[in-house]
Amino acid sequence: MKILVTGGAGYIGSHTCVELLGVGYEVVIVDNLYNSNKKAVNRIEEITGKEVTFYENDIRDAKAMMDIFGKEKPDCVIHFAGLKAVGESVKKPLEYYENNINGTLVMLDAMRKCGCKNIIFSSSATVYGDPAFVPITEECPKGKITNPYGRTKSMLEEILTDLNVSDPEWNVILLRYFNPIGAHKSGLIGEDPKGIPNNLLPYVAQVAIGKLEKVGVFGNDYDTPDGTGVRDYIHVVDLAIGHVKAIDMIKKACGVKIYNLGTGNGYSVLDVIKAYSKACGHEVPYEIKPRRAGDIATCYADASLAKKELSWEAEYGIDEMCADSWKWQSMNPNGYND
Ligand code: NAD
Ligand code: UFG
Repeated sequence: MKILVTGGAGYIGSHTCVELLGVGYEVVIVDNLYNSNKKAVNRIEEITGKEVTFYENDIRDAKAMMDIFGKEKPDCVIHFAGLKAVGESVKKPLEYYENNINGTLVMLDAMRKCGCKNIIFSSSATVYGDPAFVPITEECPKGKITNPYGRTKSMLEEILTDLNVSDPEWNVILLRYFNPIGAHKSGLIGEDPKGIPNNLLPYVAQVAIGKLEKVGVFGNDYDTPDGTGVRDYIHVVDLAIGHVKAIDMIKKACGVKIYNLGTGNGYSVLDVIKAYSKACGHEVPYEIKPRRAGDIATCYADASLAKKELSWEAEYGIDEMCADSWKWQSMNPNGYND
């Protein structure tokens, strides 16, 4: 079975390709390398000892998409390609809608014309907004989303659902990720943000390696056990395996399915800094800063539906997530740019 992975050179995509190849799927990557590096593709091959077909193309390029889908005839698409920086999306809404929504529409049209009607989509816990309840089940209503990035995820969920309504041959799995962190055990692939990281873990990792001075903790007056924000951090390899399990569900002609991919555990910012300090062997300095606009206090998953229907459950805990992040960071202090 052949899987076409858009955004497969990126952080979550590269880890997913490793897991797909590991269980014997053929993998075709389409990535424009806007936020990634070709070396990630080489490293996927190094880890697995298998070959990957790689197209450096933009999913908004209709002709390229038709050519690729026509030639490769994939059985299923895992769709990671997109822009993902929350703050940037507030400043550049048109770029975000254009890339994420238009890119997906162009790709879906090529899929339809070439008869590939199976898609697994990278959605996000961000669609729950400030959640109505925690732990968050898939039944939790979608909330008020505070940024264009999150709105693209929510809209794409609706668009993909409409496709199945129009033609029940479409199988669509919407995977709502919580907070992916960590890296592959080999230390060969990991998260390589461009510029100053926006997310907590890459920021902590760069303080730990000495590239940044100290972590700014955004608020310690939330209604949480230590006052700092609580999130459901999930090891990126666990998340990747979730996609492999989702393919098994697609094979059953499942229609539209939605799953939370999280661990079900919430950790605070200070818990993460403590775990990372243990992993890297020295204290990671931090200071308390004001709250960041748009942040919520607490967000963690009820992932029991994925366990029941996909036989998937996250295996790794926060200590392994931090240890594996540190291995990647210390082996590749400049990411893929060494
Ligand atoms: P990433 O930026 O590392 O990977 C995305 C990849 O898509 C990059 O390699 C980029 O070059 C590529 N890309 C972007 N636009 C493209 C286009 N028009 N054509 C071809 N390739 C394009 O991000 P990631 O963290 O691996 O996230 C993957 C997906 O998961 C994204 O859709 C993201 O929104 C979603 N997601 C991520 C998180 C997270 O915290 N990392 C959480 C929830 C959902
Ligand atoms: N935080 C800090 N300092 C930092 C960065 C973050 O204290 O330098 C705090 C935040 O306030 C929050 C927690 O660390 O309490 C996690 O923040 P991240 O930016 O790492 O992650 P978010 O939960 O804000 O959002 C991420 C992605 C979203 C995605 C969401 C759920 O950025 O795209 O997880 O999957 F939607």
